[in-house]
Amino acid sequence: MPTLRVREQRDLHYRDLGDGEPILFLHAFPLHAGIWEPQFQALSVGWRLIALDAPGFGESTLGPDPLTMETIAGDADALLGALGIARAVIVGLSMGGYAALALFRRHPERVRALVLADTRATADSAEGKKGRVAFAKGALEHGPRWVASEMLPKLVRAEPARDRAVATEVARMMEQADPRAVAAASLGMGLRPDSTDLLARIDRPTLVLVGEEDVVTPPADARRMADAIPGAKLVEIAGAAHLSSVENPADFNGALQDFLRALPHHSVG
Ligand code: MLT
Repeated sequence: MPTLRVREQRDLHYRDLGDGEPILFLHAFPLHAGIWEPQFQALSVGWRLIALDAPGFGESTLGPDPLTMETIAGDADALLGALGIARAVIVGLSMGGYAALALFRRHPERVRALVLADTRATADSAEGKKGRVAFAKGALEHGPRWVASEMLPKLVRAEPARDRAVATEVARMMEQADPRAVAAASLGMGLRPDSTDLLARIDRPTLVLVGEEDVVTPPADARRMADAIPGAKLVEIAGAAHLSSVENPADFNGALQDFLRALPHHSVG
């Protein structure tokens, strides 16, 4: 993957495939840009697909600790600027969705349209924030295998058997994660502000996606978020929990493609 040297002498790795109107993908915690492989396979004609590794994940170097959603949004803005892209469709899943909302808050001019998948606009509760601190400590003390075993049941469905390959792949990605990045991102997610007020101001085409069995950011939250964004469309993805793009890529990609084709002035794909 190519690299961009960003602020604070950090290297930001990203994947960049295809020609056409740009789509920037922001990944979930504690994973990396590799989760978007099924979307890269399905959408490579007519679109320029860009996926970045958040600081400390994948091949990007470690960033600040805590790793705030504003830092990821700032990196996304820097990457688009360096690539000469004025604005892009932003697709964020879970932590990537928190960062997408931060990008809209800070740099709305960068956002052509928004796809918010398995994410929420609300901040963590007081108990949730304590959980972030405990998880950060646990990651540093016990390492990547502990992270993977704690997170896996929250991210993907345990059954049926056909999902086991997905679970194995997701666990493998998490076991590659640097515990320092996991801890920094856990603390950073706990610090994210409430974005509920922002929703009514989102004046871009928006698609909200959620796995029907998502327990981390459940369909009821997605519905509330979609209702608060003018004109937003909600699609529930069957046979998926939190990582809907990975667990049911066919339905996720179908909903994404329908949304992309309907964007104003879109002529390709
Ligand atoms: C994620 O999938 O990015 C995280 O589980 C989100 C969260 O913990 O809030």
